[in-house]
Amino acid sequence: MSTQIPKTIKAIQVDKVGGPEVNVLREIPTPVPKENEVLIKVQWTGVNYIDNYFRSGLYPVQHPYTVGQDAVGTLVQAPTNYPIKTGSRVFTTAGSAFAEYLVAPRDRVAALPDEIDAKDGVSMATQGLTALYLLKESYAVKKGDWVLNRAAAGGVGLILTQIAKHLGVNVIGTVGSQSKVDIVKQSGADHVLLSSDTSESNVKKILELTGGQGVHAVYDGVGKDTWEEDFEVVRRKGTIVTYGNASGAVPPFPPAKLSPKALKVTRPTLFAIVKTQEEWDEYTSELIEISKKAKIHYAVHKEYGFSAEDVIQAQKDIQGRGTTGKLLIKVSDE
Ligand SMILES: NC(=O)c1ccc[n+]([C@@H]2O[C@H](COP(=O)([O-])OP(=O)(O)OC[C@H]3O[C@@H](n4cnc5c(N)ncnc54)[C@H](OP(=O)(O)O)[C@@H]3O)[C@@H](O)[C@H]2O)c1
Repeated sequence: MSTQIPKTIKAIQVDKVGGPEVNVLREIPTPVPKENEVLIKVQWTGVNYIDNYFRSGLYPVQHPYTVGQDAVGTLVQAPTNYPIKTGSRVFTTAGSAFAEYLVAPRDRVAALPDEIDAKDGVSMATQGLTALYLLKESYAVKKGDWVLNRAAAGGVGLILTQIAKHLGVNVIGTVGSQSKVDIVKQSGADHVLLSSDTSESNVKKILELTGGQGVHAVYDGVGKDTWEEDFEVVRRKGTIVTYGNASGAVPPFPPAKLSPKALKVTRPTLFAIVKTQEEWDEYTSELIEISKKAKIHYAVHKEYGFSAEDVIQAQKDIQGRGTTGKLLIKVSDE
């Protein structure tokens, strides 16, 4: 395949810490892959909650930086003997994805099978892989377990419920508003609770549903606001998986906090769990298999254009708690 690679590309960048309005669209030199890297022409990318952490300074970054995590596009340049052919459709979690072309480490790219829609591939990248590793490793679910899935209508949340149900797990989801209840039920959740109800009534309901014992694991990407409640709803010897900070970071705590129920707390990130080539290959192929077998529905909240205004709006939308599923950004037609 011969693709004319341009000398410059359009990219969304951030020059300083701030709110969504600091995103700007500008022309930058086309990134050049090094020895162990590949070049991808981006078709679709998507918003992740982590974009807010980088932009707001919660996770420090060097400025200017190109925004974005995951993308689906065409592999246009790769080292000799690279296992994926140039011209193939691929998905990646390489970062710097709000751009017409991106450079990815050679071990962060997977071929997207023909039968999987390009838009689904964007959801599969960061959010799908996260949902899978949470259920496989952070607390490895067993058939019949009870789990609590916080922000169950979100990008990770909707996928997590579907995979958990495929594995025979009982899922209780929480959502911030009534309008999200139906979509979470459709994703397969056995029970959906409103986080706006009192904590006492939600704790009571979760204990009732689990025969008074509590859930085997809480998957919590909300963070600060739900942290204390997690300790009340998890069962003895259970696991709290704190994997995000949508409401703020959880506070430091003494290990003795875990002792009354002999709990485990883990704080994983995708980048630390899926790190080696072997782990990437294992996780991406398993996610592709599960997506086909369980017919995972990758819900899309909205498709946005590739402009600073669109990105600003999308980041405001995801922070505003009104979104369900993935926020996609169309960068090019192919
Ligand atoms: N550790 C990892 O490897 C990893 C990887 C990917 C994502 N994450 C984390 O997973 C979480 C979900 O990510 P996502 O990209 O799929 O986002 P998302 O779930 O689509 O959006 C975040 C959701 O968090 C909920 N939320 C609760 N309190 C909030 C608050 N004060 N402000 C804003 N939102 C609040 C909202 O749902 P309700 O209104 O329904 O509560 C909102 O829709 C995030 O915390 C993200 O950082 C972690």
